Amino acid sequence: MPMKDWKKKIENKTVRIGILGLGYVGLPLAREFANAGVKVVGFDIDERKVKVLNAGKSIIKNVPDSEVKNIVAAGKFTATNNMSRMKNIDALLICVPTPLTENREPDMRYIIESCRTIAKYLRPNQLVTLESTTYPGTTRELMVPILETSGLKAGKDFYLAYSPEREDPGNKHFTTRSIPKVIGGLTSKCREIAQMVYELAIETVIPVSSVEAAEATKILENVYRCINIAMVNELKMVFDRMGIDVWEVIRAAATKPFGFSPFYPGPGLGGHCIPIDPFYLTWKARQYDMPTRFIELAGEINTDMPHYVIARTMDALNDRRKSLNGSKVLILGLAYKPDIDDVRESPSLELIELLRAKGAKVDYNDPHIPATHKQRKYNLQMKSKPLSAAMLKQYDAVVISTNHSDYDYAWIVKHSNLVIDTRNATASVKKGRNKIVKA
Ligand SMILES: NC(=O)c1ccc[n+]([C@@H]2O[C@H](COP(=O)([O-])OP(=O)(O)OC[C@H]3O[C@@H](n4cnc5c(N)ncnc54)[C@H](O)[C@@H]3O)[C@@H](O)[C@H]2O)c1
Repeated sequence: MPMKDWKKKIENKTVRIGILGLGYVGLPLAREFANAGVKVVGFDIDERKVKVLNAGKSIIKNVPDSEVKNIVAAGKFTATNNMSRMKNIDALLICVPTPLTENREPDMRYIIESCRTIAKYLRPNQLVTLESTTYPGTTRELMVPILETSGLKAGKDFYLAYSPEREDPGNKHFTTRSIPKVIGGLTSKCREIAQMVYELAIETVIPVSSVEAAEATKILENVYRCINIAMVNELKMVFDRMGIDVWEVIRAAATKPFGFSPFYPGPGLGGHCIPIDPFYLTWKARQYDMPTRFIELAGEINTDMPHYVIARTMDALNDRRKSLNGSKVLILGLAYKPDIDDVRESPSLELIELLRAKGAKVDYNDPHIPATHKQRKYNLQMKSKPLSAAMLKQYDAVVISTNHSDYDYAWIVKHSNLVIDTRNATASVKKGRNKIVKA
């Protein structure tokens, strides 16, 4: 399709968008395009998700049922697992998972599978973009050869771009629409077309010179966070030995109007991105005989944080003439960050395993996660225990692992015997401070 036809389709909003992978990234993106007035088809291999979405219900907390209902009712969004419908789509945006394998290497099977499916139905002039976080080189080295099994040439017969997702579930200040989006194309025409498409749904699109620059941008953002979090985690342990409260120090340092961005310590890294993505670069850098020492060191410190929390809990129990072995411990917050329902890589899961291994009897409460489900690494088979003053008293230690805003921390401290606070959630609690131990 010549450029002017793309322009026309975009101007009169007859361009058809397809989104592969309707998860935490794909669904909010589908909503933005649908709300912008274009028709979106969501493709997912998960039949249950497809059914739920077509019934006008959401599958994630950050996109309410009412929003899915509205776009389905307006005829702007349908979900399907019938991949042959890709033939009728103009722009296919891939938002599938990019986890690590057991050996902590990039697990590219979802991208590979998506590209194989697309290649079956690819037709001239379609645009394909990848949003999943990955190592620099993925679009050109991995995707192009698979997509070209269609017989079509990338950059000539069809267009290819990379635009990293910057979704931040639970963020009240930024939405999918208002978060600027970086785009790199395989060719400049690929980039221009991708930019026009994304500008339908995203306020600010930032073009960069290549797909590799766009891939590296996302990796830089995540490495930056991973390393800074590791740094404050280490400082937390050092300052604690010195009797200095790291939270007070960060609050004070953050008053500097330039040259300092605050990062906060915690019980370990969680989520799909920060604990995983930097290792995509580590893996790729090996091909260039380059070590990624900052990433390895940050990984070491962050991975060790749950052990630090356990050690602090044991010390606090010891001060009360108790051993962790045989103690009852309640974990507050299972999600990897406040006010979301996502437990992927959550340090709370690791804490539960470590506590159990030391002989503690562990329960959890999380208003957003009624029960645990089987994951690659964990199969805890637990249900959230309802909170009450009487139940809090039964525990030898209550560990605040995720600082959900629904919790009444003064009430929790009042009724608990001992509170291990890994998030400074009890900062404003005045009474019962002798029961609080920061970790
Ligand atoms: N969750 C976040 O906050 C976030 C933020 C930034 C970037 N990312 C990145 O975005 C990507 C997607 O993450 P997510 O959190 O949305 O994952 P997710 O697991 O919530 O959703 C992925 C969806 O893709 C579907 N899927 C898998 N293979 C498929 C295939 N071959 N065809 C069609 N659908 C398929 C799955 O069934 C699932 O519904 C990852 O690379 C992640 O690193 C996520």
